[in-house]
This record gives sequence, structure tokens and C-alpha cells, in this order.
Amino acid sequence: MTAERPKVTIRTLAGLRERGEKAVFVTAYDYPTAVFADRAGVDLLLVGDSAAMTMMGLPSTVGISMDEMCVFVKSVCRANPRAFVVGDLPFLSYQTSDEDAVRNAGRFVALGCDAVKCEGGARVAPRVRAMVDAGICVMGHLGLTPQNLAQLGGYRVQGRTAAAVDRLIDDALALQEAGVFAILLEALPPVAAARVRERLDVIVYGIGAGPHVDGQLVISHDMLGSFVGDIAPKFVKRFACVGQTVEHAFASYANEVRTGAFPREEHCYKV
Ligand code: KIV
Repeated sequence: MTAERPKVTIRTLAGLRERGEKAVFVTAYDYPTAVFADRAGVDLLLVGDSAAMTMMGLPSTVGISMDEMCVFVKSVCRANPRAFVVGDLPFLSYQTSDEDAVRNAGRFVALGCDAVKCEGGARVAPRVRAMVDAGICVMGHLGLTPQNLAQLGGYRVQGRTAAAVDRLIDDALALQEAGVFAILLEALPPVAAARVRERLDVIVYGIGAGPHVDGQLVISHDMLGSFVGDIAPKFVKRFACVGQTVEHAFASYANEVRTGAFPREEHCYKV
């Protein structure tokens, strides 16, 4: 942390919103990614439960445990990032009771997270209140909420009708009332996200929710081209082909080992 680039706090994030400056938000699950994203000037890092899919190859986010999430949180926080770090509470780590919510959110904070995120609206508002009352910054998450994918009927765009937008607004207001400092909207038409945002005082970030929000989140594996799997949401823009680069590097290495081109003299110790 330097004098020119102080740690990002909720005050920094509120200031960005007030000035109409967009916040830059990406997922990170490991130490090197956190270092690279932080050096690039990213404002927020989400240690997402998407780690289940991106890092562990599971078919959805619900299979990751609190202990597994703690390994990813610990790795990101080891980078001591300037960015604001949000730990994503995994499935059943907070839905079960206020006590579970506070205890598990507290584990993330003790490991270095600046805030936690949980999915759902009015039905999780009491949990949010309990965590906020324990002194923890909480981000809400509405729209496409992968922890209840079965109830939503799969990866489907949310907020496509006036009634659905009204329900989102009610949920967002319940979260705001419970004390969240920000709400993340996932997979909504831009006009729906704008309608939700205009009803709120808290910060609104989006992933696949169009441009009329206070900042953009992307899953780092999606933007870097290193996700292994079939899910390719429309809203993702690829900024690199890391997977392909890594595969080519391994193939070159394998070729050089097999042909004897590696190691050469300069790679060997002298007596
Ligand atoms: O886990 C995650 O990365 C998330 C995003 C998909 C919003 O929650």
C-alpha cells in the first residue's frame, strides 16, 4: 500500500458512485491473480463461490464448502491488496441461521476480507441484519443467484417483466433496509438494472446487467479465457486467451523435453 494508492474502503467506493466513476470489480481466487489485478488498479476483488466451477471443476457453485472457500480467501488476502476484498459466502453457510451467518462471515473477515457477499433478497434480510449488527460489511446479490439455480430453472436472464422488476425492487429495498452497503445485480436487461438502481441509495454493481450501474464485475476466468467448461454467458468479453497460451506453453515444453532440446547448457549448474 502506498501514499498515492491507499487501501480501497467503503468510503472510497461511495465516493466513486457519487462522482459517477465506474468501479472495476473482478473475481480472484489465488495469490498471483490478486497481485496482478491489484497492480492493474482493480477496485474490488470478489473471492467468489464460482471458485467451485473455475478452480475446482464442479458443475455448479453449490458444492463448495466454507473450509474450501477459506483457502481461496486466504490466498487472495495474502496479496494484501489495495483493492476492497469481498468474500462470497457459500451455499448453506448463512441461509441456516443468524448464528451461522455471523460465524462464517466472521471467518472471512478474520482472514482479511473487507466485506462478505450473500445471495437473495427479503428472505435473507434477517441474516444480513445480523451480520451488519456484528460489524461486518455486507454486499447483497440479486437477479440470477446461482445458489438457487434449481428454483430459477437454470441460468436464465432475470427481471424481464414489469412484475419481476417490481419484485427485484422490493428485494433490493429489503436488503438496503437490512444494512447492505452495496447490491450486485446479475443477468438483467439494462433497463431493469437501471430501474432497480434508481430506487436505491446504496451502491449497485452489475454482472451482465448492462452499463447503467455503478461498476462492472466479471469472472476473471471468463475475461482471461481460462474457464474450462461450456458455460459462455452473452455478457462476457474476452480480453485474453490465457488458457490457449498455457496449453501451447505446456506443448512446447513437452516437445523440447522429448526431443532433448531442453534443458540446454545454460539451464545446467556448473561444477
Ligand atoms: O461467485 C461469483 O463469482 C459470483 C458472481 C457470479 C456474481 O457470485
